[in-house]
Amino acid sequence: MAFRTLDGVAVAGKRVLLRADLNVPVRNGKISDLTRIERLSPTIRELSAAAARVIVCSHFDRPKGKPVPEFSLAPMAAALGQVLGRRVIFTNDCIGVMAQRAVERLSDGDVLLLENTRFHPGEESNDSAFAIELANLADLFVNDAFSAAHRAHASTEGVAHLLPAYAGRLMQAELEALGAALGHPARPVMAIVGGAKVSTKLDLLGNLVGRVDILVIGGAMANTFLAAQGISVGKSLQEADLHMTARDILARAKAASCEIILPTDAVVAGEFKPNPQTQTVPINAVPADTMILDIGPDSAAFLIARLAASKTLVWNGPLGAFETPPFDAATRAVALAVAEATASKNLLSVAGGGDTVSALRQAGVTKKISYVSTAGGAFLEWLEGKVLPGVAALEV
Ligand code: 3PG
Repeated sequence: MAFRTLDGVAVAGKRVLLRADLNVPVRNGKISDLTRIERLSPTIRELSAAAARVIVCSHFDRPKGKPVPEFSLAPMAAALGQVLGRRVIFTNDCIGVMAQRAVERLSDGDVLLLENTRFHPGEESNDSAFAIELANLADLFVNDAFSAAHRAHASTEGVAHLLPAYAGRLMQAELEALGAALGHPARPVMAIVGGAKVSTKLDLLGNLVGRVDILVIGGAMANTFLAAQGISVGKSLQEADLHMTARDILARAKAASCEIILPTDAVVAGEFKPNPQTQTVPINAVPADTMILDIGPDSAAFLIARLAASKTLVWNGPLGAFETPPFDAATRAVALAVAEATASKNLLSVAGGGDTVSALRQAGVTKKISYVSTAGGAFLEWLEGKVLPGVAALEV
C-alpha cells in the first residue's frame, strides 16, 4: 500500500493538525507509561523544527461525547512538554472560538495540544460539521495515530478528506514494519498467537492461516484447539462452543499448507495463583483436577527450533499466564530467542498488543525486537486483514 508521507512537504509557516494517540495508561491520576508519547515525539520535533505551527489533537479514554474532567488531555500536555523538552500550549476545547483563538496566537514552531476530541459527539459519529470545524483550524493534516486508525472517526478519517493528508513518522514506521512482516515478507513467516480466547481472535487466525507458513497457537486459546481434537485439558480455561470452529481453522491451515504448532507438553497447577505447586506433563496426560497455565519446556524448545528456520515473525499474545510466575517461563524463553535471532539479523520480528508488549518488557527485550507496535486494537484488525479507515484515507 502506498501512502503519503511528510517527505518533501513544505510545512514552514503552515498550521498542521497532527492526530496523535495520547490514549496513554493512567494509574491513580498519573501517566504510567510514556511509550506512546515518546514514539510520537519525532514527528512533532520534525514539524516544529521545520517552522510548522503544530496543533496536536487526540482522544483519551471513552467520555462518550461530553466533557468529563478526569478524561482531560491537560496532563498529557505537561508530559508531552517534558518529553519534547519544550513548552506545549494547552487549550480547553478542540473546536470553536477557544481553539481558533489558541491557533491564531501560535508562532512558527509552536506546539499546541487541543482538548479531548471525544468530548464532542461528532468525533465518534464522524460528523461532517465537526470534521469541518477541525479542518478549519489547519492547512495540512498529519495522522500519526496508527493505534486509532481502526476507528472511522472525524479526527482520524473525516478530516483526512478535507485537508491535504499525510502519514506522520510514527504512522509511517508502523505501516512499513507491518508491511514488511505480512505484506511482502521474507519467508518462512511464523506467527505466534496467544491469549485467553479463540473467540476474540477468530478473524485473525482465519486470515493468518492463509498468509503465514507456521502458526503457533499458545495461551489458553490453545486449550480450545486441543480439546477440539479430543485431548482432555482438565479444568483449563477453554471455549467448548468453539470446537467446530477450531477444527475448521485447522482444516483451513492444512489446505493452505500452513503448519500449526500446538503445545505437546504443559505446565499445570491445581489452582491459579502465584507460585503454586506445578507439574510438567505431556499434553495427553493433563490430570483432570489441574489446569494448563503455560506451554511446557519441550513445546517452547520446539517453537524456538522452528523459529530458527523462520525469516519473519509476527507475535500477538503470550504463551502462558505470563503475569503470574512461574507461568511466564515459556513466553520469556521465546522472547529471549526472538531477541537473539533478531540481533543476529536472521529474523525480522514484529510484535504488538498490550499483553505482548508487557511480556516483552518483562523479559527485558523490547528494544531488541525489530518493531514493537504501539497499537492494540488497530494491530489486531490489521492482523485480521481489515482495511483501517484512518490508513485508507492516507493512500495515494
Ligand atoms: C487504543 O488505545 O487502542 C486506541 O487509542 C483506541 O482506543 P479506543 O479503543 O477507545 O478507540
